[in-house]
Amino acid sequence: MYDSIIKKIRKCLPTNVKKYAVHEPSFPKKVLREIEKCIDSSYVSTSGEYLDKFTRELQEITNSKYVVLTSSGTAALFCALEEINISGCEVIMPSMTFVATPNAVIHASGIPNFIDNSKYSLNINAEILDKYLNENTMQVKGSCINKKSMRRIRCIIVVHAYGTAANVTNICKVAKKHKIEVLEDAAGALGSYEYNKHVGTISRMGALSFNGNKIITTGMGGALLLKSKKDYERISHKISTARLKHEWKVEHDMVGYNLRMANINATLGYCQITDFKKTLKIKRKLYNDYREIFYNDKYCYIKDEEPNTTNNNWVTNLYLRDSFKDKHQILIKRLHKSNILARELWKPMHLLPMFKSMPRTRMKNSINNWKTGLSLPSSYYK
Ligand SMILES: Cc1ncc(COP(=O)(O)O)c(C=O)c1O
Repeated sequence: MYDSIIKKIRKCLPTNVKKYAVHEPSFPKKVLREIEKCIDSSYVSTSGEYLDKFTRELQEITNSKYVVLTSSGTAALFCALEEINISGCEVIMPSMTFVATPNAVIHASGIPNFIDNSKYSLNINAEILDKYLNENTMQVKGSCINKKSMRRIRCIIVVHAYGTAANVTNICKVAKKHKIEVLEDAAGALGSYEYNKHVGTISRMGALSFNGNKIITTGMGGALLLKSKKDYERISHKISTARLKHEWKVEHDMVGYNLRMANINATLGYCQITDFKKTLKIKRKLYNDYREIFYNDKYCYIKDEEPNTTNNNWVTNLYLRDSFKDKHQILIKRLHKSNILARELWKPMHLLPMFKSMPRTRMKNSINNWKTGLSLPSSYYK
């Protein structure tokens, strides 16, 4: 079994690589020249031409009206949640997410409320959400109240897990019915679409990450995709230390944050994003190769994409069939021994010590996915 899986994975990968990490950054040659230009300009910090250029490229790819560049994806989520104002309220999210999602909720003084993901994908599903809200909440003066905790449920974060687009349109309909705001955590999903709309632009706000392991990286960094001018102006102001525009005066009108992206980081992002179509194509090929080789495999499978979505194939996950579940840890160990540095999926959030006491639904799929899934080497191989 193990040898057969390892052989199949290796068949999809180039032979000239010593260790196959899940995701490594890849920079075009011009990056050093552009970094030098950035340094020569002296604009290495919070203003400069690469911030503008990277913003424009992101606007073009996502068709988002407004883009705010931030210092990380976590910062982008935090700013969005503060703007929605979740203080003292619950925020629904899948337990199957990266820890940054509930962390951002806690930082913005909210309470994460974890729900299970769909059986067929790592994302939440509109019907599961609707059923949960119908059974567990009530409407009081236009607010959605959790019947058990009696707290307001202010927002739901739709996570596009591992870059795979969730069916946000239907989730937004359910959320509207229950009077809940929607925020998309599209951290790993640059280049993923639902119904030809870029994820992160379907709800009021969406967060992207450009951390080192993402499809495009700025070293560290993130962005908020926004629909409304008001959200854009308020968030841009707040994350720029709330400094009033003036050529020489240094004055501020509120307690702000310094959560902007730096021009030197944007240089890295700009150099990669101009080749983004090629990146998507190469990553799609690797995903298709994995799918083909594991098609009808006795031991493992790759999940189908959600209906009406196109994905960026940032990371491809492989799952053991239920009858081989107990081989999960040994398989990962054997892969590592063969220099295939596969990783477990995110441990579901409701199992982490700091979130154990948070409200949650019964979890079946998230635990099963965690106990059977692993992330395959998914780097950009030329
Ligand atoms: C689903 C999800 N949300 C949020 C983040 C946080 O992004 P960052 O590391 O840029 O803060 C990540 C990063 O991996 C992520 O995968």
